[in-house]
Amino acid sequence: MKRTALTIMAALLTVALLIAVNLQLDSSFNNIKFSQQNMKKDHNQKKPLPKNNSYICQQNLSAANMPGFSSFPSGIKDIFYYRHCRNFPVLLDLPGKCGEPGKSEKIFLLLAIKSASLNYDRREVLRKTWAEERLYNGVWIRQIFITGKHSTNFEKQELLKLEHQQYNDILQFDFEDTYLNLTLKQVLFLDWMEKNCQNFRFMLHTDDDVFANTDNIVQYLQSLKDNDGGKHLYIGSLMSGVPIRNSQSKYFIPVQMYESNKYPIYCSGGGYIQSAYTALTIHKMSQSIPLLPMEDVYMGMCLAKAELKPAHHMGIKVFGLRMGPKKFLPYDPCLYKEVLLVHEFSPGQIYVLWKSIHNPSLKCGSKKTFPLGP
Ligand SMILES: *[C@@H]1O[C@H](CO)[C@@H](O)[C@H](O)[C@H]1NC(C)=O
Ligand SMILES: *[C@@H]1O[C@H](CO)[C@@H](O)[C@H](O)[C@H]1NC(C)=O
Ligand SMILES: *[C@@H]1O[C@H](CO)[C@@H](O)[C@H](O)[C@H]1NC(C)=O
Repeated sequence: MKRTALTIMAALLTVALLIAVNLQLDSSFNNIKFSQQNMKKDHNQKKPLPKNNSYICQQNLSAANMPGFSSFPSGIKDIFYYRHCRNFPVLLDLPGKCGEPGKSEKIFLLLAIKSASLNYDRREVLRKTWAEERLYNGVWIRQIFITGKHSTNFEKQELLKLEHQQYNDILQFDFEDTYLNLTLKQVLFLDWMEKNCQNFRFMLHTDDDVFANTDNIVQYLQSLKDNDGGKHLYIGSLMSGVPIRNSQSKYFIPVQMYESNKYPIYCSGGGYIQSAYTALTIHKMSQSIPLLPMEDVYMGMCLAKAELKPAHHMGIKVFGLRMGPKKFLPYDPCLYKEVLLVHEFSPGQIYVLWKSIHNPSLKCGSKKTFPLGP
């Protein structure tokens, strides 16, 4: 046992040394480095490295020179060190997800669901409920779970691969799936979409802990005059906010990262719907806006740069349904028949709710509690 461990450690050390030497050889500051590329160079120098697809993006050490850096929490330091790294490889890909333009049926509603790689149980329920890939009202709904990795959890990575094989709905990028990396996840997804998946009209961006009434979303989008996805549309729960400068807060954003004392108007990240036109515009804008950890604010910054406005839709309830003064989630299926999206639910609740709103014997009053439309 011990000897095996020692051998592995020795091997790892050798790899690390070779990589270190290799990095040093390359004196120019280069944002993006694949060890595959390094391998090629090494091959020419007859110094083969073991096959290793891991992405290496050099830390920007000069970030540490900015005033106040040492007082930042480690997550924020990390953002400054790695903010320029935006080209992580795809570990699990979905090449045929959106078909070929002109050849296959266009997707009407694409569900882009951010899901931590560990959340197997949530994905299983979503596939059986609102995120099920299906033809509804004559149009296609397709779904993608967007994940990063948890490099410490081997078993879950194996599970993710099996899910991918069975369902073909996991898009995984090679970066650590943390809260502060959510914007990175979003930006990587938009890059991927621009290259691989433009064959859709509308896209719902959300998380795996919401109840989304995708039947209603399709009906609502079909009811729009311009519903081919070629016009601007960005709807959700509108927010206006200011950057929190208290370093103890989960939402801490130092002035060195975002200077203005006000965020642009944005839609809460709990769930928002956009057209293909808007998604591609945001992608274009994102190329020149440095990453900011709050993903929904970042999208708002991209919209503002394109001089496009987000809009409110009263059927998108990212803070749950408020009935009376106290926040709670009432459990009356009739309420959920009319909404587009509500946050947040356990997998069991989502399952029961989805089944109950589709129960043919469910009788609801004719009065619409949450009329559709912005
Ligand atoms: C690949 O290289 C990275 C970066 O040096 C290293 O951290 C990782 O352990 C290597 N992986 C394998 C499987 O050798
Ligand atoms: C590195 O960080 C410094 C300080 O934040 C910044 O001015 C510089 O543009 C960064 N370099 C890169 C390549 O991102
Ligand atoms: C984001 O992911 C990168 C790549 O895996 C990692 O180096 C970095 O620590 C992560 N950042 C945060 C703030 O978690």
